[in-house]
Amino acid sequence: MVALCEPTDVHWCDGSEEEYQLLTQRLVDAGTFIKLNDELRPASFLARSDPSDVARVEDRTYICSRTAQDAGPTNNWMDPAEMKGILGGLFQGSMRGRTMYVIPFSMGPLGSPIAQIGVEISDSAYVAVNMKIMTRMGSAVLDVLGADGAFVPCMHTVGAPLEPGQQDVTWPCNPTVKYIVHFPEERSIWSYGSGYGGNALLGKKCLALRIASTMARDEGWLAEHMLIMGVTEPDGTKTYVAAAFPSACGKTNFAMIEPPESFAAAGWKVTTVGDDIAWIKAAADGTLHAINPEAGYFGVAPGTSMSTNPSAMATIRANTIFTNVALTDDGDVWWEGIDGDVPAHLLDWKGNDWTPSSDQKAAHPNSRFTAPAVQNPVVDPEWDNPAGVKISAFVFGGRRSGTMPLVHQSFNWAHGVYLAATMGSETTAAAFGEQGIVRRDPFAMLPFAGYHMADYFNHWLSFGRSIENPPRIFGVNWFRRDAEGRFVWPGFGENMRVLQWIVARTQGRANGLESPIGWMPRFHDLDWAGLEDFSEADYLHAMSLDRDDWDKEILSHDELFIRLNDRIPREMIAIRDLTLSALWRSPHHWEMNPDPT
Ligand code: GTP
Ligand code: SPV
Ligand code: MN
Repeated sequence: MVALCEPTDVHWCDGSEEEYQLLTQRLVDAGTFIKLNDELRPASFLARSDPSDVARVEDRTYICSRTAQDAGPTNNWMDPAEMKGILGGLFQGSMRGRTMYVIPFSMGPLGSPIAQIGVEISDSAYVAVNMKIMTRMGSAVLDVLGADGAFVPCMHTVGAPLEPGQQDVTWPCNPTVKYIVHFPEERSIWSYGSGYGGNALLGKKCLALRIASTMARDEGWLAEHMLIMGVTEPDGTKTYVAAAFPSACGKTNFAMIEPPESFAAAGWKVTTVGDDIAWIKAAADGTLHAINPEAGYFGVAPGTSMSTNPSAMATIRANTIFTNVALTDDGDVWWEGIDGDVPAHLLDWKGNDWTPSSDQKAAHPNSRFTAPAVQNPVVDPEWDNPAGVKISAFVFGGRRSGTMPLVHQSFNWAHGVYLAATMGSETTAAAFGEQGIVRRDPFAMLPFAGYHMADYFNHWLSFGRSIENPPRIFGVNWFRRDAEGRFVWPGFGENMRVLQWIVARTQGRANGLESPIGWMPRFHDLDWAGLEDFSEADYLHAMSLDRDDWDKEILSHDELFIRLNDRIPREMIAIRDLTLSALWRSPHHWEMNPDPT
């Protein structure tokens, strides 16, 4: 790789604290990092990316399996030999004038039977220090790997070689050429041209989702875009729940949810195992065990505050890398939705002067923090357990202004697979592209499945058949809006009320009503203590089903199924038909009756 990329020198990352100091100082000297005020935000840094390099680039992301059919119609594909020709040319001399960092990392606790090792070769010190926080990184990984262990090779360059004497920029990247490429059969990753997030921290989406999902299919496990949370009840009963929401749709918030006062006072507690990715294997006794393969959070900054997510605020108090947020005059960070008054003056994410009268956002909508999981005050005591935690429920939820109710439970596993497979969400700033339109995002994995999406549905169906008592499957929607465009559900901590019902359902303890699309809690099945400004009428509205909306919804399911027609499981078509008949046998506008008083 040195012969191919021609770096000036090579740095073997050992993962030590001294190395972190050295590399962050190197980034400060290069102007990539701004050291934040050590009193306000100890040992923390701000990075500003190039304005062309602010999010994942889905249209530049490729699954280069041997055949196009294996990648399926929802992935970009190119013949592997042809792609290797292109990459060979691009990587030739790509690291000239730069240091090559060799970054050994483990996704999952070191030595866990569920963990996987990768080695990323990158010419970005920003990547090296972020990988130190996001993964178990350094020499200890090489010890586990030994002389002949298996690892996923991950090649990364920002694609901006320097000529002799050429002055570097603070965020090197290639503004025009980007390739994020996966070779699923040989389990390797090549990333060119971007330094941002999932494009560059290759352990995350590239390894832990795209490559791992193909490993999981081959080996009979699950690699999912899911948070994992532990729910402790007043009597000490603990239930672990895994939830898949698309990018920037509330996984970090839900994973760290602060229960409302009345719940906390009664003894309810929620703890975080992970906020983005879950690897799940069936144990010999038929239970499912999940680990979070990551060691840190790469979380969306805007909207994070003491009222929406106090645990995230505590997590990022120190030792945090911020990317593309705004800078206050006293050297702290700021973003839209953070607590307190809007400062009279800031430097925005591009480094320009900003005042409250500015018509631009101060922080980029996809600005993020990188912080160690151990700093989370509600991190689960088992979060680092190599054996994982036992999962009892799966929750799926997109961002939907209409159509989808606040919560419902699927009738059975196959019906739950349908619910997840047909999930839709309004697009967000987490991916580069048009925003706010509903797109199908099956299992919140549309940009992350490393193979044909219909085979992925098949894998879930057969996985469920192979376990004796599979977890229950639920749908949620925190994002329903009224005619004036306001959210009808208060969300955030109040989501605990829905979570409580979900947990009770997994234990067969809570009641529900059969609706055309699944089981639903009646108003009195949820605990409303302490919640004002949300009436039973509001609830009935948030749970209602409108046939005009649902006819459109099912047509849109069909569009997805037709795209996947060559491999779609028969179950999906059968359940589509059953759902449609159930809706048509119900009132045009379906609403639960108010509770008898
Ligand atoms: P990735 O890291 O991109 O995978 O996303 P994530 O799913 O972890 O997203 P995150 O938790 O960072 O979501 C952030 C966005 O969701 C912010 O705009 C929040 O304001 C919004 N959000 C989170 N929970 C809720 C909720 O309960 N209600 C509403 N209305 N918005 C929410
Ligand atoms: C997502 O987009 O789902 C993320 C952020 O978690 S990134 O790592 O950049 O993909
Ligand atoms: Mn994510």
